[in-house]
Amino acid sequence: MSGRNTLDFVHGAIFRPCPTQQHLLSIADLSREEIETLLSLSHQPLSSHLLQGKILASCFFEPSTRTRLSFETAMIRLGGSVIGFSDKEMTSSQKGESLSDCMRMISSYTDIAVIRHPSEGAARLSATVSSIPIINGGDGANQHPTQTLIDLFSIQKCQGTLNSLEIALAGDLRFGRTIHSLALALAHFSPRFYFVGPVELSLPPSILHELKKKGVKYSCHTELDDLLPKLDILYLTRIQKERCAGLDQLRPTILHKKLLHRAKPTFRILHPLPRQEELDPSIDGTPFAYYFEQAQHGVLIRKMILAYCLGAL
Ligand code: NCD
Repeated sequence: MSGRNTLDFVHGAIFRPCPTQQHLLSIADLSREEIETLLSLSHQPLSSHLLQGKILASCFFEPSTRTRLSFETAMIRLGGSVIGFSDKEMTSSQKGESLSDCMRMISSYTDIAVIRHPSEGAARLSATVSSIPIINGGDGANQHPTQTLIDLFSIQKCQGTLNSLEIALAGDLRFGRTIHSLALALAHFSPRFYFVGPVELSLPPSILHELKKKGVKYSCHTELDDLLPKLDILYLTRIQKERCAGLDQLRPTILHKKLLHRAKPTFRILHPLPRQEELDPSIDGTPFAYYFEQAQHGVLIRKMILAYCLGAL
């Protein structure tokens, strides 16, 4: 299996197109204070005219349901407009155009862009050629910072805090970009992590290195069973079969409904969706299911991100 993970190649220094506008490329670029500021800004009511006259370029080189549609809804709800594509076959990348040329042109037509792309580092590359704020809507197996802000907001909402929680991150820890971003973000909040999944899909060494640097406590497991009673949050993910040949041979980490009688009453299950066999729909009706609420927070959080990156907050 091949698979590479970096912390988005370049740390620190967010390239800022102008003093009040900024990119959102990787959660690794944000401090704890910046994350807390963004989360508190999401409670602020925003005018439905706030982004009137602004245009979002919605550039999806990979399939998406929630990320694309919640970004587009967010822009429209703030009075802005949206152009873009949801299928790379409809763009000149099919004629061999480079990502740099494509994003350079798009940035000259619009005010802000969200990009999802199969290559790690695609959003940061786009930012280097763009005169407008670039938001990373997922770059390969690397990062998904806007999903992480939704996840943090959801955890805070259902647990009342982000601090010192017992959290299992389960499923595809190797290729799951939502896992990578969330682990790095939560590391600021003294978590106790349980990493659960097939050994072939363990967390990349670069992420483990960051967690160790921060002194985060963690352990690795192949089964969920004995962990359930300790957990505040289970963040479950599907195996990212499209990222690497042979992944469909692996046995996924499944949450069995019968385990839930051992959970704390305040225990909640999160999932970035889409789900596969790891999360059976029979769990949806239990008080522990929180993944649809989590997905619904997408528009609220992405409204805040669009307004913040455009310097309107
Ligand atoms: C995730 C993604 O695209 O990384 N989905 C999402 O944005 N909510 C998770 C996944 O595809 O498994």
